[in-house]
Formats: sequence, C-alpha cells, structure tokens
Amino acid sequence: MERETINAALPVIDMRGIKREYRMETKQNAKIKDGGLPKKDGALKNGAPAVIDAVVVRALRGVDFSAGAGEFVSVMGPSGSGKSTLMNILGCLDKPSSGAYTLDGIETSKSNSDTFAYIRNRKIGFVFQSFNLLARTTALENVELPLFYRRRLKNEERQNAASRKERAMAVLKEVGLEGRMDHFPSQLSGGQQQRVAIARAMVNDPAFILADEPTGNLDTGMTLEIMGLFQELNRQGKTIIMVTHEPELAVYTKRIITLRDGELVSDELVAKRQSAPDDLSRWKRDHALLSEQAP
Ligand SMILES: Nc1ncnc2c1ncn2[C@@H]1O[C@H](COP(=O)(O)OP(=O)(O)OP(=O)(O)O)[C@@H](O)[C@H]1O
Ligand SMILES: [Mg+2]
Repeated sequence: MERETINAALPVIDMRGIKREYRMETKQNAKIKDGGLPKKDGALKNGAPAVIDAVVVRALRGVDFSAGAGEFVSVMGPSGSGKSTLMNILGCLDKPSSGAYTLDGIETSKSNSDTFAYIRNRKIGFVFQSFNLLARTTALENVELPLFYRRRLKNEERQNAASRKERAMAVLKEVGLEGRMDHFPSQLSGGQQQRVAIARAMVNDPAFILADEPTGNLDTGMTLEIMGLFQELNRQGKTIIMVTHEPELAVYTKRIITLRDGELVSDELVAKRQSAPDDLSRWKRDHALLSEQAP
C-alpha cells in the first residue's frame, strides 16, 4: 500500500540497498611475530608476508528508505544499530560501500566532492545535540554564516550583505528570536541556542532538516519547546529527519523507522501523534503547581 504522506513521484530522499562496511585491519599477529609493524606493502621487516587480520564491521546491511516532502521521521534503534552511520550517509558526510542514494533528484554516489559540498550547504540543514554555534559570534551572524559560504550553481547570483542579513533576520523571527539577534550564545538559554541552530539550518531553505538527538542537552521544558518548533516547521511543509533514543520524543513525529544490527526492521506511522505545545502547557501547569506546593 502506498504511504499517504509520501509524494511518491518526487521523494526527497531515496535510498536503495545501502550498505556500509568498515574494514578494520589488526596487525596484532604481525607485531607478535616480528616485534615491529609491517611495512606498507604488508610484508614484515624480515621479508616474510605479514599476517594481518581483517575484521569487517557491517554497519548497514542493505537499507531501503525513502521519504517525501513534508514528512517528519524519527530514526530509532539501540546503540550500535547503525543510526549515526545512516545519518552520515543521509547528510552526505560519508558515502555508502554500495547502494544508491538520491537526494532531491541528485544521485549522490556519482557525485564528486564539490557536488557533495553543494548538497551539504544547500540541500541539508544540520541540527546537532551540542548546537555547534560559534561562541564569539552573535545569533544573527551565526545564522548568516551558511549564506556567506553559500555554494552557488554557475548561473546563480551572489547575495549581497544586505539581503543575507534580511534573510537571517527573517528565519530568526520564524523561530521566535527576533528579540535576541545580537546576543552571543553564552547569553542565551540552551533552548534559545538550539533555536539559533535551527534558524541556521533553515536559512538556505534546504530540502530537509537532519537533526541528531537535537534535545539531548535540554531539560523537559526546552525539549518540548523545540519539539513544538519542529512540529510547526513541519506543518509549514519542512521535511525533518530526527535521530532519537527516546520513544517519548518519537511520538511528536509522524513516522518511526527502527534499525537493528544494520537493518531497517520496522517502518511505521505514528498512530497517536502528540502535540508538543499541548504537552508543554500541561507540563508548565504541573510545574507551577509543584513549585507553589514547595515549602
Ligand atoms: N569508523 C568506524 N570504524 C569501524 N566500525 C565502526 C565505525 N563507526 C561505526 N562503527 C561500527 O558500526 C556499527 C554501527 O555504529 P553507529 O555509530 O552507526 O551506531 P549508532 O546506532 O549510532 O549507535 P549509538 O546509539 O551508540 O550512537 C557499530 O557496530 C560500530 O561499532
Ligand atoms: Mg550514534
């Protein structure tokens, strides 16, 4: 059955048979026999062939995954199941050992490093657990940065300083930080810092936002605020892929894919989607009641 939310004609993300193997060579045997590391060609100093153990870690074992515009997907799975490996490939930070990955119509496996850099700058908005903002740079300047380093196609015009500033101000407003543009990261709460990072992720109007444990460093209130912001951006049509360990956060998304031992073992729509703003109001009310009761 076709998934309703997927625009099957034009998926933003289309992965087919994605495998990623890490080959780890251990030179233990060689060391023991010769008392030293083998030379570059693998032969030992005394000329004997080295005994090199090769261990292949199969981090992804043939993943098929496709997501259309407007989806909000959680990537879940136990530690070591391949989530970061999948994120790195989705984010064009790494290439698969085999398989095909098409992003917004671009077949990435045939792309060179310039195209990869273009894709990372223009097609993907990254949001990390640790915000990754520049400390000595204001909120506005942090958001302007991807525009400053904007990768352009041959016939595209360069943006001038005024239009960069205007665009950065507009996205900061979208994330509710119009009053904090000149603040440095240290002058902002964790939740506000993550809002700046989300504004920075959106400033080039990417094909999708890739968030890796985006609320991992935030308390409950700020977590719900950020999830509410993601829900609002998604309602406006933004495509979001989010890695999370926490099932209670996945219920704010629309779809959950689960990895286990490098395989995609389940892919389901969230049956009872929760509203983060509603949960935030409830949480604030309960919290206020608790502090009133405190001695
Ligand atoms: N650079 C690497 N070299 C060798 N093996 C690796 C490398 N990176 C990851 N692995 C292995 O690949 C598997 C998947 O790792 P990955 O980091 O994708 O898991 P994960 O789901 O992100 O785990 P976690 O929830 O702990 O972050 C693990 O067995 C890991 O040990
Ligand atoms: Mg990981």
